Amino acid sequence: MISIKSEREINLIKESGHLNYLTHELLKKHLKPGITTNELDKIAYDFITKNGGYPSCLNYEGFPKSICVSINDEVVHGIPSNRKIKNGDVVSIDFCVLLNGYHSDSARTYIVGDTTEEVKDLVKNTEEALYVGLQQIKEGAKIGDVGAAIQEYAEAHGLGVVRELVGHGIGTEMHEDPDVPNYGTKGTGKTLKAGMVIAVEPMITLGDYHVGILEDDWTIVTQDGLPSAHFEHTVVVTKDGYEILTKE
Ligand code: MF3
Ligand code: CO
Repeated sequence: MISIKSEREINLIKESGHLNYLTHELLKKHLKPGITTNELDKIAYDFITKNGGYPSCLNYEGFPKSICVSINDEVVHGIPSNRKIKNGDVVSIDFCVLLNGYHSDSARTYIVGDTTEEVKDLVKNTEEALYVGLQQIKEGAKIGDVGAAIQEYAEAHGLGVVRELVGHGIGTEMHEDPDVPNYGTKGTGKTLKAGMVIAVEPMITLGDYHVGILEDDWTIVTQDGLPSAHFEHTVVVTKDGYEILTKE
């Protein structure tokens, strides 16, 4: 069942999303060669809890940390560890914040230091693919419109769209209906209505889109070992568009 959030609920998710945004901004400042992913995790845990929130990836279905940090060929759900960030790494940071009973979910990908033009384009085009998808959103549009736009944009730039993981509704639960795939066919799927809150999260690969999972049972990696990128915002559907809730 897809829930329609009240104005009060949307405002609570916006507060959660704002704390999510501020946490991303703080992590961005610390993301430098030499920092470990555990150190980033602790910075996020301390900041979110100090501000009255809970980092809701922590203990979610047994996930052991507060944030997901996925490097290079890791697509999503990388587990923080003593691994040090290196110059040239492509680092995706993804996490949820629970505040006032509502979750928000957002992801960003950074290039640390310098890398090749094609990896820079991967990251830039993945962020753009998120916005191309979001631009489809308004009351009356179909879920398939979002995925079709993302897929068309990514493939036109020679990139792959991960199929195994999808965006989702969000609210009092981290993952609610509907699924929001990053691929699909225009004009198909459920109809968007004002007050639906969804997390749109393209996971885009430089090479082939097929993925596997590491022995830790969490980390999703590309099968061909090429890098991938991930951007995500939590948004509310409105009568004539959408509003990003994981923002300033
Ligand atoms: N944005 C991720 C998702 O929607 C957050 C996952 S939290 C984790 O799947 F605990 F599953 F890692
Ligand atoms: Co998500």
